[in-house]
Order: sequence, then C-alpha cells, then structure tokens
Amino acid sequence: MTGKRILLIIGGGISAYKCLDLIRRLRERGASVRTVMTASAGQFITPLAVGAISGDRVFTDLFDREDEHDVGHIRLSREADLIVIAPATASLLARMAGGLADDLATAVLLASDKPILAAPAMNPRMWLNPATQRNVATLQADGVRFVGPNSGEMAEKGEAGPGRMAEPLEIVAAVAAMLAGAAAPGPLAGRHVLVTSGPTREPIDPVRYIANRSSGKQGQAIARAAAELGARVTLVTGPVSLPDPRDVDVVHVETALEMLAAVEAALPADIGIFAAAVADWRVAKAAGQKIKKDKAAGAPALTFVENPDILRTVAARGPSRPALVIGFAAETENVVELGKRKRKAKGCDWIVANDVSAAGGAMGGDRNTVHLITAGGVESWPAMDKAEVARRLLLRAANHLLQTQVAV
Ligand code: C5P
Repeated sequence: MTGKRILLIIGGGISAYKCLDLIRRLRERGASVRTVMTASAGQFITPLAVGAISGDRVFTDLFDREDEHDVGHIRLSREADLIVIAPATASLLARMAGGLADDLATAVLLASDKPILAAPAMNPRMWLNPATQRNVATLQADGVRFVGPNSGEMAEKGEAGPGRMAEPLEIVAAVAAMLAGAAAPGPLAGRHVLVTSGPTREPIDPVRYIANRSSGKQGQAIARAAAELGARVTLVTGPVSLPDPRDVDVVHVETALEMLAAVEAALPADIGIFAAAVADWRVAKAAGQKIKKDKAAGAPALTFVENPDILRTVAARGPSRPALVIGFAAETENVVELGKRKRKAKGCDWIVANDVSAAGGAMGGDRNTVHLITAGGVESWPAMDKAEVARRLLLRAANHLLQTQVAV
C-alpha cells in the first residue's frame, strides 16, 4: 500500500472507535490516510484523536471556509486512490443511495469517481430492514464494494445478528485487494444458481411444434449476472437464437418434460430462478410421422394434456428445495395483483412480475419494467435494461441469503 492515498469517511456509530486502529493499520502498511468525519461521528470519537493517529487534519464541514478554500470536497475525492466508509451507517448508505450531498461526507462521495469500499455497521434490525437492503443493492449495482457486516453480539445488551462492523484487519485486507485490482470474491461466490429460460417447444409431429414468443433474453441476462457475481450457474434453456453465455453450464432442452428433468438433475441449488416461458400444455400424443394433409379427414384435432409446473414442483421439494425460489409472472393486465396470487399459488418465495403487453415491449426487447413481489410487499422498479434487472435481482438474492444466514 506504499504511497497509496486512502480517504476514510467515518460515520456516526459506536464502532467509529475501531477507526483509530484501522487508520494505524493502514498507515503501518505505507498508506496515507486522510479523514472526513460526519457530524454524528463526532459524537463517538473526537477529531483530535483521529487527527493525532492519521497525522493529518480532519475534515468535518462542507461549509468550513478554510477547508473549502484549501482543499474542498472535490479535491478530497480527487486526491484519493480509494475511499473507505467505516462505519457506514444506515443513514449514510441511504443518503448515498439517494445521491444526496447534504454534508461533507456525502458531497465527497457524490463527487467521486474513485473505488469505494463500505464497512456497514448498525443494529441487525436496521440492517435487515428492506429499505437498507434496497439501498445496499442500489449501491452494489453502482459499483460500491462492501466488507461485512459480521454477525454477532451488538453493543446493545442482548442484541445479536448481522450488523457488526468488519474488524480493522478485514477492512485492510479488502482495501489491499481492491488496490491490487483483484476482483474480490463476488457476493454469490460458493453459491449454485439454477436458471430456466426461453420457451419450450411441444411437438405435434416430427416437424411441427407449439411454442411461444419468449426470447430468453431475461433468463440469459440472469445467468450471466449470476456468473459475474461469482456463482456457479446452470442455465436450462429452451430453443433460443442467442449464443450461450460464457462461464455458465448450459443445458439445452426442447420440451417442458425435458426441462423438468434437466432442472431436477441440476439440483441442489442455493437459488432457483424460473424465467422460462414453459408451455402449459403439450399435445397428448405427438404423431410419430409427419401428419399428412388429407382433404377428406380435414384439419387434425389436437388433444392437449397439462405439462408439469416446474416452478411449483421445485418449490414443493421440501428440504432439497433451493433456499430461495424465484418465479416470473408475465401478464398483460393487473400485473401486481396476479403476481401476488401467483406467488402463493406456486409456493415460491419471490415473484418478478412484468407486463408483456405489446405496449410494454418486454417480450423480445432489451428492457423490462418489473415489480418484485416478496412476502414483505411489492417493489416497483423503474424501466431498465434486462441486464440491470438481472443484476439487481441477484444482488437482492445474495443479500437475502446473507440475512437468512444460509452459510456457503
Ligand atoms: O403459470 P405461469 O406460466 O404464468 O407462471 C409463470 C412462472 O411459472 C414462471 O416462473 C415460469 O417459468 C414457471 N412455470 C414453470 N412450469 C410451467 C409453467 C410455468 O416453471 N409449466
């Protein structure tokens, strides 16, 4: 770390006291540490102590005439190789996620294009709150890296759970990895993610089939994003005209029955995401030979039988079920209401509901407008690229596994 310039933003939490040790450890390794303290950080440790340990002046005020004149918030972020936020409180994360710049710390962060590492610390209930999780997912999607929080006893008596700030040496290790340009292990490292995608083809005879308009774009984007976040990924896909995504085990199938068999063979998985547009019915008895056009017999009558529901089957598997089962609900009207009903009917944990009416343009297009329906409620996401939907969904899923403490 010799010669590297770290800007440490200290938030207002009890674990701010650990920052003194963190500064020492970073300086021991040759880094210079400049510090910004939020107003509430000053309730826990003093600028005097921070300045004494960092060997530099401490910046606290966006409107301090002297500070702004000498250095200023833009220079503070420009003159750093990396920004560390420790402790990153729920409020600081929320203001960052919202793009606020209402004090020196947030103004520096908003003005920065430098790598940012956040070490969250807060009460477990604040960490687990959907608002905080939403903010963390947004920040991760914006490229902010996280170290911790760890689980364990909290400063409040009798409180335990995820929310303890990572230890100074863990933060130093994360800083070192980021400075070295090493990809930190993704949030899905060690997890197996199973994705279904694309349409199914249900044969009528050896040359004819029934299918649907699914392009497989959203499912493939999910598989790709899961791999990018470090997961081992199995993609079970119906016929699509897209190249196989890299770093993903791809299993090609045609029919719903083949898809179910491939899914069962790929289990166990930590996360199952069922984005395929599986045909609800198949022709009861596909003809062994091409059906001939016979004027006298007229058009053939097709008899259908129901296909297995892959999502429902997997969600009902009991102990061998993935810890998180996510289904899709493609609807052309009443999207949220039907999505909520589908979540219950299918027995899955989350439903990603989207409007596939022609006006929405989701079917075959590159963008999607989705609502994430969980046991906790409905979140409506703005329209975004399918890749972005995929990334956000998987970051949420990674956090969910972290919260529910399913160990890798
Ligand atoms: O019932 P519907 O097709 O609207 O449900 C959509 C969800 O169920 C999707 O996640 C889809 O992949 C899944 N599904 C399935 N097997 C079926 C039908 C739907 O896995 N036979």
